[in-house]
Formats: sequence, C-alpha cells, structure tokens
Amino acid sequence: MTLKAAGGPSITADTTCRICGTKLTVEVSAATYKRHNGNVTWRACDDCNANEAAERERTIAAEYEEIHANWLRERWRRRIGASGIPRKLVNPTLTAPPHDAMKAAVEFANGTINGLLFTGPPGLGKTTIAGWAFARRLQHTPGIWRSAPILVNDLQAEFGSDERRVANELLSGRQMVALDDLDKARGTDYAASQIFAAINEAYVNEQPLVVTSNLPLQDLARRWPQPIGETIADRLQEHCVRVVLTGATRRKPAQLPTQN
Ligand SMILES: Nc1ncnc2c1ncn2[C@@H]1O[C@H](COP(=O)(O)OP(=O)(O)OP(=O)(O)O)[C@@H](O)[C@H]1O
Ligand SMILES: [Mg+2]
Ligand SMILES: [Zn+2]
Repeated sequence: MTLKAAGGPSITADTTCRICGTKLTVEVSAATYKRHNGNVTWRACDDCNANEAAERERTIAAEYEEIHANWLRERWRRRIGASGIPRKLVNPTLTAPPHDAMKAAVEFANGTINGLLFTGPPGLGKTTIAGWAFARRLQHTPGIWRSAPILVNDLQAEFGSDERRVANELLSGRQMVALDDLDKARGTDYAASQIFAAINEAYVNEQPLVVTSNLPLQDLARRWPQPIGETIADRLQEHCVRVVLTGATRRKPAQLPTQN
C-alpha cells in the first residue's frame, strides 16, 4: 500500500495493518515519522479500510431505517388521533372473525380495494372489523371516521366549531371516509343530501370508503327520499366490496362484577 504524503519530504516505512496485521509499506511525511519515533502503527490495509467504510455505511443505513420507521409510526399515531376513530377499534382482540369479512378488510387495509360495505344484524362485528381495516389504511392515507347520525348532527353544529369543521372536511373528498351505522342517519331530505355528498365525493375522488349498516343495500336505497336514496346505494355498490355478515350477536349480557 502506498499513501501519498500531503507535501514536504516523505519516508517509506514498513509496517503492518493495525486491524489484520498484514505487512504494509507506507509513505508518511518525515515530520510525522519523526514524531512517532518511526512507529507507524495507525495504518490499515485497503481491504480493512474498505470493510470499515462498508460497516459505517451499514450503520448509517440502519440508523436511517430506524428514524424512518419511527417517523412512519408517529405519522400513523397522529392520523389515528385526528381521524376520530374510537380507541377500542384500533387494536381489537378478534376471535374467529368471519373469513370473508376479514379477507376484504385485509385487502382494504393494504390498499388493494378502495371500498368496504359491511351489512347485517347487530353485534356481528361490522364496526369492529371495519375499524381494524380503517385504522390500518391510515398508515397509507389520512381519514375521518364518523358515526353517520353524528356526522349529520355535526354538520349543523355551531358555525366555526371543530365538529362542523371536521364534518365539512369529511364531505370534501380530500380524505378517506368511514361512515359507521349509515342506516341510522335520519331519513330527512337534509340528511340524505349530506350523506349523498359524503359518499359521492369519496366516489368521484376515488377516496377509500368504509360503510357499516344493519340494513342491506336495497333497503338503504329506500331509507331516503327518491331519487337520492337510489343514487347513494348505486354509488356504494360500485365503490365498495360488499360483505353480508350473518350469525348471532357477539355482544354479551352485562354482569355484576364477581365478589371475592
Ligand atoms: N371477531 C371478534 N372477536 C371478538 N369480539 C368481537 C369480534 N367482533 C366483534 N366483537 C365484539 O362484539 C361486539 C359487537 O361488535 P360490533 O360493535 O363490531 O358489531 P356490529 O356488527 O357493528 O353491531 P351493530 O350493527 O349493532 O353496530 C363488540 O363488543 C366487539 O368488541
Ligand atoms: Mg356497528
Ligand atoms: Zn488489514
């Protein structure tokens, strides 16, 4: 190995690599050589230098990866908070969830499909599985979760209030939307036009959309005055993969705490 001295008289010295011990011939400045009494012990061979550089690069890449992963986690945490999804829906304990609903939820979560519509009787896990999917999709895109009847109320909240601002943002088509209990929104003209706006903006802007309802699609269509009820249902059937849940409620009767 030959290293060029920075300037001035230089000396060629025999030494060994400080890492692997291979014999080396190096050039050092006469001043440096003298300062170290001829003991040139700090040099490494080309292979060891290359290994050290590669190791430094690996360390930097790993650090960057950790920073990036933390940033992604933090962004997800913020999106969950801003979305309004109830906390208990983010990481539910799921036992034997219905296969077809879970399959659709996974595909929604990873972005393969852009719409989910869960219908069926009370207590079957529609909101729970929809929440699981919505929360995971938040890793990819921001979104707003609202119970449909609450959305309709919030749209009429005090002008300038947070409720009204978020409700209007949900109608803007700029974010993913979840409408839980869609069939519980009032059947008035006003409610119908607002629900239409929310679903139509998600539809035309190709935003992810999650809907749950006890009523099946054909009954949802008749929930509101015509033709708006039909137009809501028609957009839903194109935008959303539909899963009908069946079976018995998973809700358990409340009990007194056990004494001991
Ligand atoms: N796969 C599951 N494993 C364990 N518990 C579940 C599962 N799915 C739902 N649950 C529980 O069952 C209860 C009812 O679930 P959920 O609220 O999701 O039902 P739903 O279909 O949305 O009902 P509704 O139509 O009345 O809104 C909740 O307490 C929920 O935590
Ligand atoms: Mg529900
Ligand atoms: Zn070496």
